[in-house]
Amino acid sequence: MPTMPDVGLDAAHSLLGPRQAFLITARDPRDGRVNICTAGWVSGANWKPFKVSVALSKGGLTNELIRSSGEFVINVPDMDLLDEVVFCGRTSGRKLDKSRRAGLDLLPSKHVAAPYVARALARVECVVEQALEMDDHWVFVGRAVHAAARDGVFDGGYAVSRVRPVYQIVGERFCSLDGVEVRREIPVGEGWK
Ligand SMILES: Cc1cc2nc3c(=O)[nH]c(=O)nc-3n(C[C@H](O)[C@H](O)[C@H](O)COP(=O)(O)O)c2cc1C
Repeated sequence: MPTMPDVGLDAAHSLLGPRQAFLITARDPRDGRVNICTAGWVSGANWKPFKVSVALSKGGLTNELIRSSGEFVINVPDMDLLDEVVFCGRTSGRKLDKSRRAGLDLLPSKHVAAPYVARALARVECVVEQALEMDDHWVFVGRAVHAAARDGVFDGGYAVSRVRPVYQIVGERFCSLDGVEVRREIPVGEGWK
């Protein structure tokens, strides 16, 4: 009989992983400024119409932009964007223009004002239907209003032999569907590359 030692509640979130990492884009409705942040706490929330929840920390800029604009885009990165994923997840847009610093081109979305990441594998554009205040996070439930995937990567499901979505194991430990672990740490405040 296998044993199951305690890991402690601080590690509980990592037991529910590895979690796929996404890039969330949001736009300030007042001045049009766009921000990108990395998020792994993204989950389906309703089937028809499709809704998705994203949990974002109260301290971040992205939660403020989503609360004021009522919109966001979930961009799906491939492992070739791992540096950018880590950078956008370790630096706040309060300090700098992350898309410019990371060299991530943005293109106009179809149904929301927030743009999408040009190099992403796919995107889901969302309009916020509910914002739930937690202790240190906001959970946004967005209704999908548009979904698109790059040519050749999706045929009703991802062509898994051709894509390498990013999964965070914990901290700086990442992997993709091949199960090979990659470490990538950009210390806070280090800037880009
Ligand atoms: C792989 C990864 C996943 C992350 N997932 C989340 C998440 O689901 N929710 C969250 O609030 N922050 C998450 N973060 C941290 C934010 O991306 C980070 O706090 C970021 O600096 C916020 O940027 P902003 O202030 O520009 O919004 C994650 C970071 C990484 C590297």
